[in-house]
Amino acid sequence: MSEVSVTKDAGGPGPATDKLVVLDNVNKHFGALHVLQDIELTVARGEVVVVIGPSGSGKSTLCRTINRLETVDSGRVTIDDKPLPEEGKELAKLRADVGMVFQSFNLFAHKTVLENVTLGQVKVRKTDKQAAETKARALLDRVGVGNQADKYPAQLSGGQQQRVAIARALAMDPKVMLFDEPTSALDPEMINEVLEVMQQLARDGMTMVVVTHEMGFARSAANRVVFMADGRIVEEATPDQFFSNPRSDRAKDFLSKILHH
Ligand SMILES: Nc1ncnc2c1ncn2[C@@H]1O[C@H](COP(=O)(O)OP(=O)(O)O)[C@@H](O)[C@H]1O
Ligand SMILES: [Mg+2]
Repeated sequence: MSEVSVTKDAGGPGPATDKLVVLDNVNKHFGALHVLQDIELTVARGEVVVVIGPSGSGKSTLCRTINRLETVDSGRVTIDDKPLPEEGKELAKLRADVGMVFQSFNLFAHKTVLENVTLGQVKVRKTDKQAAETKARALLDRVGVGNQADKYPAQLSGGQQQRVAIARALAMDPKVMLFDEPTSALDPEMINEVLEVMQQLARDGMTMVVVTHEMGFARSAANRVVFMADGRIVEEATPDQFFSNPRSDRAKDFLSKILHH
């Protein structure tokens, strides 16, 4: 079950610390709603963390605080020991370092697939156009849509669009990839083609935070499962521990609903 972890490479260049993403006592409110409560979460370099929990528990908000699409009210979020920048160029660079893939593919509708994967490299990373296109084509091949490069997003299936979105994020050489229910909007027959790309990324050692209801993915790819309810992290465990022996009533209840439908 956990043979995935032995193939992980946590090494490589970079600072000595193994803690890539750290949320330290993070709190956030939306008006009266305390949406993130005393969140403590550390994601190690090369680790794959799957976040699960009922709708409205704060999973998306958690992801969005990691690339500062949402600010926090208190506590600290650091990437590679650095606090998140407030604005400007540094923020754009942070967003590139933290790749994000959403449920709705969020591609630029009026750009071709190739342009979608090239644009950020040129604008944020200052890569020259030729090199950016070469890299984009290699990444599109890697996610299995190399032959779609000159089409527009609307001409692709949902599964293909989501793989382009993954390629676009990877083109920025992110330190970590966040996935917020990346297969929830897909027709069933397209779910696996996206999960397979994610599985491969995990095997290649990418640091990943994945919000998903795909328990098969969680079991096979995750190093750790984080269960959220009502804005709190209620449980953290290995997939084996979590699925065979959830400790909290909330997790037991959630699993019985999700595994038996
Ligand atoms: N921008 C916002 N303004 C007000 N409330 C929000 C906003 N975004 C999310 N919420 C609320 O915060 C709670 C957590 O939302 P979310 O993080 O999307 O949960 P999940 O992803 O686990 O379903 C929900 O009750 C949701 O309605
Ligand atoms: Mg959500």
